[in-house]
Amino acid sequence: MNNIEIEDRTFEILLENHTISKRTRLIGIQINVDYEKRCPVFIGVLNGSFLFMADLLKEVEIPCEIGFIRVSSYEGAESSGSIKEAFGLPDNLHNRDIIIVEDIVDSGLTLNYVINEIQKQVPASVKVCSLLFKPAALKVPIKELEYVGFEIANEFVVGYGLDYVGLGRNLKDIYREKTVLSPLP
Ligand code: XMP
Ligand code: MG
Repeated sequence: MNNIEIEDRTFEILLENHTISKRTRLIGIQINVDYEKRCPVFIGVLNGSFLFMADLLKEVEIPCEIGFIRVSSYEGAESSGSIKEAFGLPDNLHNRDIIIVEDIVDSGLTLNYVINEIQKQVPASVKVCSLLFKPAALKVPIKELEYVGFEIANEFVVGYGLDYVGLGRNLKDIYREKTVLSPLP
């Protein structure tokens, strides 16, 4: 029940939209308390964060600024990992309180890169707000991870901003890949 097919894969429901909304509202309320009178700068990481960013910011009632960045990664010829590049990062973050908004923290490599880039401008503070967090997949610790919607198992997820081969970002709910049991020999 509630399965969806995207290309060659089958996904099953993990988090319904009303559950996401309730949690997002609570995070927004917490941010309103934590950042009262501080006018934070929210920086959403595209594409995955676009829906969460919009819904979260509707719950934020304090003065704030909003921007988006895009991070591309590619395999470097001499690097063992992927090299990343950030586009659209504002250059006026000095002394500001930054809240990076992500769809998911998986290995943490993307955020680690983004945080380092932002730190070069010597902001007053940097925190991360991620809708999802896969603790079992983390490769680098992210001490700035302050607000987490849901901790999930190390499974591939789609919907509500997250995609599989570019598809599924528009889904209201979040789905996880259905594991197919191999038939017994
Ligand atoms: P990490 O933390 O590994 O994550 O640097 C980088 C980006 O990869 C995407 N990501 C996912 N996208 N389902 C998706 O649709 C997933 O399960 C998933 N895990 C990671 C996401 O954009 C994240 O920001
Ligand atoms: Mg992302």
